[in-house]
Amino acid sequence: MINQIIFATGNEGKMKEIRLILEDLGAEILSLKDAGIDIEIQEDGKTFEENAVIKAREVMRATGALVLADDSGLEIDYLNGEPGVYSARYLGEDTSYRIKNQNLIDRLEGVPDEQRTARFVCVIAAAFPDGRIITARGAIEGIIGYEERGEGGFGYDPIFWLPEYGCSTAELTMEKKNELSHRGKALREMKNELKKVLEA
Ligand code: IMP
Repeated sequence: MINQIIFATGNEGKMKEIRLILEDLGAEILSLKDAGIDIEIQEDGKTFEENAVIKAREVMRATGALVLADDSGLEIDYLNGEPGVYSARYLGEDTSYRIKNQNLIDRLEGVPDEQRTARFVCVIAAAFPDGRIITARGAIEGIIGYEERGEGGFGYDPIFWLPEYGCSTAELTMEKKNELSHRGKALREMKNELKKVLEA
């Protein structure tokens, strides 16, 4: 029986969502801060899977605990998958999302709806103390809008348009976003995988 899981993130907003979704595993979910861990991790993978595994494995090695880590980003088909794994670093880590979002809208100038397809992707990796690794992936499909819309969410949400809902992901309630989002889907899949392993 595992009674503690470390989720390798420093983002408290994510921790709230993670605790809510993983609640029924019956384990205490600690952030890096809760676990008293302060290590610099080089996220130099070329895929979301690689980065999530790098983070989970390093923290598992440092603590000996079962560790989960996630990596996520926005893939725009017309830009060959950019910004992808570089989503947080696109145009510089400290550049505002107003500028990043406007830049992506500008790069898609004149591109019609059917070629503006994009998705948010999230991969969660679990690193077990015995060296086993499992991963789960979730995605949400949409198109890149023509202007920023909405005040909710964060990052690229104001330009990520959901045609079937007639709004951007920045205009969804938090509950709805958790239900539809890449991270919500990956977390629920990971929970099911963990249940299988922990009950085996
Ligand atoms: P990370 O997984 O925390 O490294 O996030 C990668 C980056 O992808 C974030 O900094 C955002 O730019 C982008 N991103 C990931 N998920 C979302 C989302 O739900 N909405 C908007 N942007 C997101």
